[in-house]
Amino acid sequence: MKHIIPVTINDEACELAVEPNRTLLDALRTEGALTGTKKGCDVGECGSCTVILDGKPVNSCLVLAVEVRNRHIQTIEGIQTSYDEVHPLQDNFMRCGAAQCGFCTPGIIVMAKALLDENPTPTEDEIKFAIAGNICRCTGYTKIIEAIKLTAAQQNQKME
Ligand code: FES
Repeated sequence: MKHIIPVTINDEACELAVEPNRTLLDALRTEGALTGTKKGCDVGECGSCTVILDGKPVNSCLVLAVEVRNRHIQTIEGIQTSYDEVHPLQDNFMRCGAAQCGFCTPGIIVMAKALLDENPTPTEDEIKFAIAGNICRCTGYTKIIEAIKLTAAQQNQKME
């Protein structure tokens, strides 16, 4: 039997119709048609399914959809500033060459967004710690860290 779960996804109120054992990841990708959130390992080890749940990053493969009743979720689709304007993190990932195959990129960008929302001036070690659960098999992380540092610097410059 399906449960109807009222939830806010990317600032839009909606309902997910889900079986009790459905993960948030699967519900987002199927019922929500939000396929930017990727399914890598499905057991909480790769970070490709990262979304922001009530302001905190979570592995959506480890959360049941029935647990998100009346909560707020932000996915990679909701990170974008507007329809024709990407988020500075997305822009800097492109500028820095921080994506190669791109499979891990949504999860890392969402994780970086959560980090910068909470800590606008992270040290390199804090960036490394934040993305430690996001596995990338292509880039070697140098460009990813560069893109996150650049975004933080730009955002802090704007606030001065
Ligand atoms: Fe969720 Fe890998 S798919 S952590």
